[in-house]
Amino acid sequence: MIYRLLKAFLFLLPAEYAHHFTTKSFNVLEKTPLLKQLIHAIFSYNHPSLERKVWGLTFTNPIGLAAGFDKDGKYIKAMSSLGFGFIEVGTVTPRPQIGNPQPRLFRLKKDRAIINRMGFNNGGVDALVDQLKALEKTKVIIGGNIGKNKDTPNEEAHKDYLICFEKLYDHVDYFVVNLSSPNTPGLRSLQEKGPLSLILSTLTQHRKEQKVRRPILLKIAPDLTDTQLEEVSDIVADLKIDGIISTNTTIDRHPLTEDIEKVKDIGNGGLSGAPLRKKSLDVTQKIYEHTQGQIPIIGVGGIDNISSATERIEAGATLLQVYTGFIYEGPFLVKRLKKALVKR
Ligand code: FNR
Repeated sequence: MIYRLLKAFLFLLPAEYAHHFTTKSFNVLEKTPLLKQLIHAIFSYNHPSLERKVWGLTFTNPIGLAAGFDKDGKYIKAMSSLGFGFIEVGTVTPRPQIGNPQPRLFRLKKDRAIINRMGFNNGGVDALVDQLKALEKTKVIIGGNIGKNKDTPNEEAHKDYLICFEKLYDHVDYFVVNLSSPNTPGLRSLQEKGPLSLILSTLTQHRKEQKVRRPILLKIAPDLTDTQLEEVSDIVADLKIDGIISTNTTIDRHPLTEDIEKVKDIGNGGLSGAPLRKKSLDVTQKIYEHTQGQIPIIGVGGIDNISSATERIEAGATLLQVYTGFIYEGPFLVKRLKKALVKR
């Protein structure tokens, strides 16, 4: 009820402004002792059966905040007080970049979806490292989602990934190599065999020289063909990549019921939310089958209620992430999903 009222207000604002308004407000609440206690009392919910041990890490619960919501790691404490078991910051690039011109974030209310073409707007990896250094010790697991700058040619992309990897190495719990955003021209072609192997092996090589072995995950697009999915899964297995995030947003507009002219007017971008659910689920299932369940999967894409969460776990996902569902359903979604998982 409270979130329904708040959402009615927030949805009157332009989408990107509403996002900044909400996250900044949460930060203010988190810094006010009484309100902070209240937030914890309302949203905290834990149960031993929610704990997951993956990649040598202990997740207090399997519901995470997907990448793109807190690109610069400014809201980790506030978001963790809402009960997430893990928070993925980024996508971060070596140098700061402003992203695409606004407007670049659009709500499709009828479809409970979002189209975005943010284009990796972020403060750069050094600023993210500063944020993470300043963070007090927290139980929440932090993932670092890394990308390349728009003006870095694809042939040099592996160098950008390595810069972010090296700089973040001591400050995050796991890494995500993002080659699947549709909003950086040519990025998704890095999922092809040659560039994919080069980028991943550059990182695994560097990892060999470190004292601690941090898990590396690959985030994939939902628009890959079955052959591409098998190829990618095989490379991941061969290079001993630790996990797959299934999936990023889609460029497909088929699942939408919204007026076709309105969708055309919005233009390019990645579609997320309820219409992505089936596509993303299929990808999770196919990877799980192809890898015979040997590679842990984080399921993300259209998870916004109990049935979409449970079907994803049944399809083989070990952990889940939400983004668009969190916008439409509000912070209670996290607690609702956790309670349902305990009952299961
Ligand atoms: C995203 N997503 C995303 N993913 C990523 O790896 N790096 C990023 O920077 C972003 N940025 C981003 C911005 C916005 C506005 C949205 C809506 C999404 C993709 C996100 O992490 C997730 O994979 C998809 O949105 C699918 O999940 P949902 O939204 O259907 O729960």
